[in-house]
Amino acid sequence: MDKLIVALDTDDLKSAEDIIDKLYPTVKVFKIGSQLFTNVGPAAMELARDKEIKIFLDLKFHDIPNTVANASRAAAKLGVFMFNLHVQGGFNMMKKAVAAVKEESKKSNIAPPLVLGVTVLTSIGDKDLRDLEIRKGVKSQVTYLAKLAKDAGLNGVVASADEIQPIRWLCGDDFIIVTPGIRPEWAKKNDQKRTATPKEAIELGADYIVVGRPILNADDPKAAAEKVIKEILS
Ligand code: C5P
Repeated sequence: MDKLIVALDTDDLKSAEDIIDKLYPTVKVFKIGSQLFTNVGPAAMELARDKEIKIFLDLKFHDIPNTVANASRAAAKLGVFMFNLHVQGGFNMMKKAVAAVKEESKKSNIAPPLVLGVTVLTSIGDKDLRDLEIRKGVKSQVTYLAKLAKDAGLNGVVASADEIQPIRWLCGDDFIIVTPGIRPEWAKKNDQKRTATPKEAIELGADYIVVGRPILNADDPKAAAEKVIKEILS
């Protein structure tokens, strides 16, 4: 099942490996974020070796165009399936990143990774935007930035369930939407606020959902992943 991405939010390779051992091949796509990557570096990619595993590298690049282009080139070389950058890094930064990925993939003869944009973090609300002197509310800022990402050549965005429909309407069916903040009815909400169940998110139009704690903290993670998949497919 490719629509379910499980977040490897751990500090070390051993714990990440334990998660994969429990979930693979039920789950085939895993997310490596700044927590694991800062702890272990590109060695995290070893987790995917010898298995049919795809990696979403969630490092949210945000820097000057040249630096982000070089980091994007490095992500492509690592052989990840998808990675992300902040749309607020600007149009030029996004265009340079996309060009670098294309160039590197061609040179190294590898499939180009999907480049996803982060619009407005789900932890940011209308008041935070006003404090930054951004006059739009979160929803219109998110859709505006999603369109900018599409125009710059990005393949899609990471977006909460609330934002899927306006983005889909504005950016079309081919634009990829990856949705975190997923909470099945049987799971705790933790610190996530704008949540949706796996089925709701997929029905709203998400191409992929990212699930962390509801699976990682379950008594039986494999059974929890199977329950999520069953819900998506039902
Ligand atoms: O444990 P939980 O299911 O809340 O994990 C969600 C994962 O998705 C975490 O790795 C978190 O960093 C990530 N994420 C998120 N909200 C975003 C972007 C990423 O929860 N807007």
